[in-house]
Amino acid sequence: MKNRTRVTHPPVVVVPADNRPLVAPIYQSVKFTFDAVDETLDLFHGKRSGFYYSRISNPTLQQLELLLAELQGRDACLLTGSGVAALSMPLLALLKAGDHVVYFAEMYPPTRELVGKLLRRYGVTSTMLSIDDLEGLERVLAATPTRLVMLEAPTNPVLKIVDLERATAIARGHGALTLLDNTLAGFHNHGQFDVDLFAHSLTKYASGHGDVMGGAIIGRAELIDAMRDDIGILGPTLDPHAAFLLQRGMKTYFVRWEAQCRNALAVAEHLARHPRVQRVRYPGLAQDPYAAVAGRQMHDFGTIVTFDIEGGLAAGSRFCEALQLFAITASLGSTESLAVPPALQQPRGMTAEQRRWTDIGPGTVRLSIGLEDIDDLLEDLDRALGSPGED
Ligand SMILES: Cc1ncc(COP(=O)(O)O)c(C=O)c1O
Repeated sequence: MKNRTRVTHPPVVVVPADNRPLVAPIYQSVKFTFDAVDETLDLFHGKRSGFYYSRISNPTLQQLELLLAELQGRDACLLTGSGVAALSMPLLALLKAGDHVVYFAEMYPPTRELVGKLLRRYGVTSTMLSIDDLEGLERVLAATPTRLVMLEAPTNPVLKIVDLERATAIARGHGALTLLDNTLAGFHNHGQFDVDLFAHSLTKYASGHGDVMGGAIIGRAELIDAMRDDIGILGPTLDPHAAFLLQRGMKTYFVRWEAQCRNALAVAEHLARHPRVQRVRYPGLAQDPYAAVAGRQMHDFGTIVTFDIEGGLAAGSRFCEALQLFAITASLGSTESLAVPPALQQPRGMTAEQRRWTDIGPGTVRLSIGLEDIDDLLEDLDRALGSPGED
């Protein structure tokens, strides 16, 4: 073999079957090969296991899929290159022109746009309600045959918590599927409910370190398999290296989650006592309007704390700029604490009533609580809040 050939066909290292790596290696290969064509055909026809092309399946992705499905208490999972891709895949796979979807004003804004703008272009109709209005959900489903109800719990950013037992029973009673964006609750929450599909942004708590994006759809094999065919054509696949990093992130998922939840509760309690804070939204606080439902249906209350600062938009910006440990940026679930000022999260393109449902006020600040020492976080918050009437 000449060197020119050798470099494209490097030596093969075979790891003996009784000598396993402790950490699964990355299958950073787009293609997988069989020596016999018939074996490839058998794979295509589902007669044997294996891999062929990483847009369709890959062992590194499969390991993460199996783990996430198990954590969420379902039998199948499909990975995507981002959280929004995980939300769009089921919509594209399950809906057709003429179908009707119910969604909610409080949801993550790109989800609202996905349903209200993009799907509409393809002839899917929709109704937006407040997630507090389950009577409205019952009424709409009774009046309009509906294929899908899209839920989110807790909602981002104001942490409203829908009664999942009731919402899923209403949907099931009217023959509608449910898709729950479970990103803010984590993989270990809400598996006990009659939810057809869970969507997660893996960019948040699976990554945990703010350095990799990904998404997951988790549900019954029959629904996920239907989507797997479509994902092969549409191609929003996760890269194996990203899957490897997410798998690595998952090893510390519970440790990070629990520590960040503890910090978040301490921040929420502290803010609730501060004179410049008008309202704290954190379902782990006894006075929170969603505390009872969250206590019933969640193991813990998450790592996001949202609050309203006295002085509105300008005060919210000044507060966030004065923080030293919290960075002003998007996303959540990182080891570092993050802040989103009110100016960056005012709802757009909504009626006055829908804006009221979102419950985002002129002083609403969202904090994503990280792994820093709680004393440092509280000191940073106090310094940035300053004294009452300081603005
Ligand atoms: C609730 C929720 N769903 C979905 C997403 C989208 O995830 P990604 O940024 O990975 O596309 C986010 C991102 O902030 C989110 O907060």
